[in-house]
Amino acid sequence: MTYPIRIVGSQVVLREFTPEDVDDVLAIIGDDKVTTWLSFDSRDRAQAVAMIEGTIERAQHKSRTEFYLGVTKRDDDRVIGFARIGLSGVQAGKLGYAIVANEWGRGYATDAARTMATYAVKELGLHRITAAIGPDNAASIAVVQQLGFTREGVLRDHVFTNGAWRDSVLFSVLAHEWSW
Ligand SMILES: CC(C)(COP(=O)(O)OP(=O)(O)OC[C@H]1O[C@@H](n2cnc3c(N)ncnc32)[C@H](O)[C@@H]1OP(=O)(O)O)[C@@H](O)C(=O)NCCC(=O)NCCS
Repeated sequence: MTYPIRIVGSQVVLREFTPEDVDDVLAIIGDDKVTTWLSFDSRDRAQAVAMIEGTIERAQHKSRTEFYLGVTKRDDDRVIGFARIGLSGVQAGKLGYAIVANEWGRGYATDAARTMATYAVKELGLHRITAAIGPDNAASIAVVQQLGFTREGVLRDHVFTNGAWRDSVLFSVLAHEWSW
């Protein structure tokens, strides 16, 4: 497996994080508008530093099980989001993503998720990719639906976030269904 990874999509590039990304990462994971939809509460600067350090460390494992990449525009190396695939189960992976709030609605998440899932199917040989999404997260549900994911069902009290248990709706796509 190669390190570092850099994958070029149609609108975005997915690349490894560096310690210099901390301010851009904090603008994402420190913003309640974003984290209200995620499985963790907003994080402070020290937690953003720790997140990046952990990501960089895990990215270098010989048997890499996490692909946690920064999302940038194609012509600007600043991080505007993240896309993540965590390997779990048999040739299976869990997809997650977020985009900084002032860049929402421009197609970046759809392209980042498409690019990440294509890499997971073609390069990592995954058979099944899942995304667990809050039932009220219409934007994220729109992203996976555009990419042809199928709704499987509800995971009850799946995450504890923002002080309460929250269900997730589970979506999946299988390698032979992936046409991107
Ligand atoms: C979900 C998220 C990543 C989408 O990012 P984005 O770059 O704005 O997404 P895109 O522009 O690629 O597409 C969003 C789609 O959702 C639609 N959408 C956006 N807001 C919506 C809303 N409130 N209700 C319904 N649809 C909505 C858009 O119209 C678009 O669909 P379209 O291309 O058919 O018009 C972003 O909102 C975000 O970071 N949210 C917080 C974190 C998060 O929810 N992550 C996913 C966890 S499962």
